[in-house]
Amino acid sequence: MVRILTIESTCDETAAAVITDELEVLASVVASQHDLHQRFGGVVPEIASRAHVERILPVLDETLREADLSFSDLDAIAVANTPGLAGSLLVGLCAAKAICLATGLPLIAVNHLQAHIYACRIASGEEVFPSIGLIVSGGHSNLYRCEGPTDFTPLGGTIDDAAGEAFDKVASLLGLPYPGGPSISKAAAEGDPKAIRFPRPLLDDPSRLAFSFSGLKTAVRYRLIGPGKLADADASEPDAEEIANIAAGFQEAVVDCLIGKTELAIKHSGYKTLCVGGGVAANGRLRERLAESSEEHGYRLFIPPMSLCTDNAVMGAIAIERFREGKFEDLSLDVFPGQERVEA
Ligand code: KG4
Ligand code: ZN
Repeated sequence: MVRILTIESTCDETAAAVITDELEVLASVVASQHDLHQRFGGVVPEIASRAHVERILPVLDETLREADLSFSDLDAIAVANTPGLAGSLLVGLCAAKAICLATGLPLIAVNHLQAHIYACRIASGEEVFPSIGLIVSGGHSNLYRCEGPTDFTPLGGTIDDAAGEAFDKVASLLGLPYPGGPSISKAAAEGDPKAIRFPRPLLDDPSRLAFSFSGLKTAVRYRLIGPGKLADADASEPDAEEIANIAAGFQEAVVDCLIGKTELAIKHSGYKTLCVGGGVAANGRLRERLAESSEEHGYRLFIPPMSLCTDNAVMGAIAIERFREGKFEDLSLDVFPGQERVEA
């Protein structure tokens, strides 16, 4: 049996897991930093990397303890080295390299975005490729043609903010806690999604597989400031009903855009399978609407359980595919913070 220790530190979760080549999860530990970033309304990169440094060893220790294994029982070390925050990625990569150097175990590079889609494979236990992949997270809102676990062709994505970023920024405007996704979703449950109609940018343009969420955030801002006023200082304090209605209207607009472009990608590609990953895939309304869409358009839908949508190391099980192909890295492996290596 092959056992791989996977490490994830791309953003603000320090995580590790041990996975077998039969995709059995022997241990999984996630240390979230949400409390540290809360008062800033978003992830502060320097705070994130320092917190990773503090947490990485205890997380690795706890993971091996949970799996009841030591380094000598492992066959490889895998680490997400792209995309993400440079300082955060470096902590995971340095930890992985140090273990490899000390033990002689081989090193495997994981693409965090491909891993988000691979979570569908792990959670379902089914063959999910080829498929259309929708990744909606704090940093990405992308559509891909996924021929295989590590063979992705970008079809389109956001031209400004990512969906999760929009949730986080709108939550901050509404005075709701970080991370914004769960806060907005909770507030939206009390609101009327039809009370306020926010714009659906690019949705009416069938020639583009693109998203734009920045203007939607601005629309929320002007709703709060009020008609004819220009400055944030003029904004009146919204009551609970207004907050709930804004949250519901905003969530519905984001979900409409995501569903519309995803259906377009499926139609153009002729693929009959959709895999969804990333933190925003934990959104209840999006999950509900995707289920309806798959029923209506007759495609297979895979969305991992919530715990595998937000960042975790279990999805690093994609390293098993690299292990089988013998694709190992040497210790000169670097981090690639940008998303240009998605196609790799
Ligand atoms: O995938 P993830 O954990 O980290 C990145 O790779 O970015 O995604 C985090 C994002 C945050 O923006 C967070 O607000 C959003 O996912 N999120 C949600 C929900 N849970 C987390 N967005 C909408 N609804 C949710 N329930
Ligand atoms: Zn992620």
